[in-house]
Amino acid sequence: MPKSLISIHDLSKEEIVHILDLAAQFEQSPSPALLNDKVIATIFFEPSTRTRLSFETAGNRLGARVIGFSDVGNTSVTKGESLKDTIKMVSHYADLIVIRHPLEGSARWASEVSSVPVVNAGDGANQHPSQTLLDLYSIRKTQQHLDNLQLTMVGDLKYGRTVHSLLQAMSLFNAHFTFVAPPELVLPTEYKHFLHQKNLDFIESCDLLPHIPKSDILYMTRVQAERFPDPIEYEKVKNSYSLTAFMLQQCKPNMKILHPLPRVNEIADDVDNTPQAYYFDQARNGVYTRMAIITYLLDQTK
Ligand code: CP
Repeated sequence: MPKSLISIHDLSKEEIVHILDLAAQFEQSPSPALLNDKVIATIFFEPSTRTRLSFETAGNRLGARVIGFSDVGNTSVTKGESLKDTIKMVSHYADLIVIRHPLEGSARWASEVSSVPVVNAGDGANQHPSQTLLDLYSIRKTQQHLDNLQLTMVGDLKYGRTVHSLLQAMSLFNAHFTFVAPPELVLPTEYKHFLHQKNLDFIESCDLLPHIPKSDILYMTRVQAERFPDPIEYEKVKNSYSLTAFMLQQCKPNMKILHPLPRVNEIADDVDNTPQAYYFDQARNGVYTRMAIITYLLDQTK
């Protein structure tokens, strides 16, 4: 089976650092046209702006051709074609598949039936490992290292797949975690068990403000409306946090605010012009990181 990227656990610490180093090279040389003979497929069963477009930009900058769909309504899935058959077909057309799908475990299943590498671009509330690599790239770039950092994660820690992937990755670098969420959206028990097993300390809180001064990274997240079984429950928590520039008065000089985006109300517009705002740069880093992921996985299949 070719090497795929479905969970951040598919990569060792050494492989993660190698991909981040590759991404740094691509930032210096953003159009090396290394993959002129390759085809990349992006198949998105859920909406996306950044992940799909940055993977497609990455493929184009590497000289590959890009095929795919972002509207499943225009595919044969509407005629009843299974995910298995869809993946088998696309793996006959492309050298690498990027998939986003609402079902947890769907990307793993896709990798098991594909003859080419598969990248999980988000499977339900489970994992989003390419986002994690660009988050790590952004953290390393702004803090100059990844070790022993104070990471405060805020918002929808229950359904936020970027949170789940990132905390697993940062556990490799001895991070100190603070999880800020309303009671309805606290981090699932399995991730707390994971941190306990790694002997990593963490605290949980409903209040954001007291935790800002100690943070190196403030990782804000959107409340994931689309994952709530009951819309009334979403209404109760949708505006749990709203970070404003005023709240940053006591922060460390080099503290940076990350957000996988899109944002709704959790970061006020007046934060955008502060030195702490890094979320748009973070999204740009996604192109270099995804160039690195594509080249690394295709290199492994040679
Ligand atoms: N960060 C992220 O996954 O954004 P999109 O949903 O726009 O791809």
